[in-house]
Amino acid sequence: MIVKPHINPVFVANWKMHHGPSATRAYVISFLRQYAKRGDRQVILCPPFVSLDTAATSVRERPDVQVAAQNIFWEERGAYTGEISAFMVRDTGANFVLLGHSERRHMFGETEEQIRHKVKAALGAGLRPIICIGETLAERKAGQTLEVVVRQLRAATSGLTNEIIGDFMVAYEPVWAIGTGKTATPEDAADVHRSLRESLIEAAGHRGAAVPILYGGSVKAENSRALLDADEVNGLLVGGASLEPSAFGAICRS
Ligand code: PGA
Repeated sequence: MIVKPHINPVFVANWKMHHGPSATRAYVISFLRQYAKRGDRQVILCPPFVSLDTAATSVRERPDVQVAAQNIFWEERGAYTGEISAFMVRDTGANFVLLGHSERRHMFGETEEQIRHKVKAALGAGLRPIICIGETLAERKAGQTLEVVVRQLRAATSGLTNEIIGDFMVAYEPVWAIGTGKTATPEDAADVHRSLRESLIEAAGHRGAAVPILYGGSVKAENSRALLDADEVNGLLVGGASLEPSAFGAICRS
């Protein structure tokens, strides 16, 4: 019998292709001013690659605020023009990486196999992956939501050894809810999160019970509380509403 551990809520800001180094510095100063340190929650900022170093340096005094990259390549080094490795990201002071975001899958053609390579490379470099999964509107309408998200999660984590299988976070982001203003209801989110939890426990027992499962897709201050209250929702991954420090600060306090 698995006793479910308490999981402190996690709030992730995915800035996508916004905020270069100077904007990042200004953002972090403003954000830290209005978001006082709290021991009961964790905040993760995901700036573009070129701003990772600035972000990591700017939050150095605040261990409750961590930094993540938005992608990596799975090789460690070599002739891969334009790519960035997990070790390089670690070297900036970032500790996390978003992997398999729906924009990577759908706009840049990332496959489940590539995502699995990236998850493995990140863990091997000591970078904690936040594995993003989610169904399209067509898949939801066809009643395939649970099947699709569980398949994506299994594909991204297959082949991991037992010691590291729980060392990641999962973000459920229905593709139809990203940047559209449409949010899953807390009940819909809870249904999916419960299935993901079952799958994680099946794969990794106690470690699977402790993996934070975040919800993302048109999260804003007005709906953050209700989503956080849903069963098995352990945090929020926020895109558009994280671009302003005051708006993201309000969500982190919810
Ligand atoms: P959104 O984006 O909050 O703007 O919908 C979420 C995401 O893509 O991670």
